[in-house]
Amino acid sequence: MPVVRGKNIEPLFTAEQIAERNKVLAQQIASGPTKDLLVIAILKGSFIFAADLLRALHDTGLAPEVEFITLSSYGAGTTSQGVRIVKDIDSDVRDRDVLLVDDILESGRTLRFAKELLYERGARHVSLAVLLDKSVKRQEELEADYVGFECPDYFVVGYGMDVAYAFRELPFVGVVTGDADE
Ligand code: IMP
Ligand code: MG
Repeated sequence: MPVVRGKNIEPLFTAEQIAERNKVLAQQIASGPTKDLLVIAILKGSFIFAADLLRALHDTGLAPEVEFITLSSYGAGTTSQGVRIVKDIDSDVRDRDVLLVDDILESGRTLRFAKELLYERGARHVSLAVLLDKSVKRQEELEADYVGFECPDYFVVGYGMDVAYAFRELPFVGVVTGDADE
């Protein structure tokens, strides 16, 4: 099992599996709504997935514009949970087909907020691409249009995702299972 900075990390989805899946997702996306396509990556967790997906989209012949939005959840674990914009996009989304890209769809609050925001701003169509779908955790009625993998209910790290700011750089998605010397 890979050991990274003293922790055992059990791979859940390998770099090879992810790369193969990204090609399939790109083909699916290319046959959906792509008028003046704008890809918006939700930071921070999606940055590696978005970078790889964009290059897979290029291979299908698409040339999307790329934007980034930083969203943050607040009130997690309380009754008043919400999402706020930490850093907004610069582009006008009016009459454009938008592809929102995120690492994980869990409760659905983040992506629901983002999707509604873009429709309010006049986007023509908004679709959702996520690397991982933790569907058992869903709180909102929301499904992604493009899903990399169904994810078991573990806290996962790597390929952009962190625990306490660590492990974003791992080329695979895995689960921290404990200290390597245990
Ligand atoms: P939700 O769908 O609004 O609940 O938010 C999902 C977000 O929570 C993702 O974009 C991640 O940033 C974060 N998240 C959820 N599960 C995990 C995990 O297992 N590892 C790392 N981040 C996670
Ligand atoms: Mg996130």
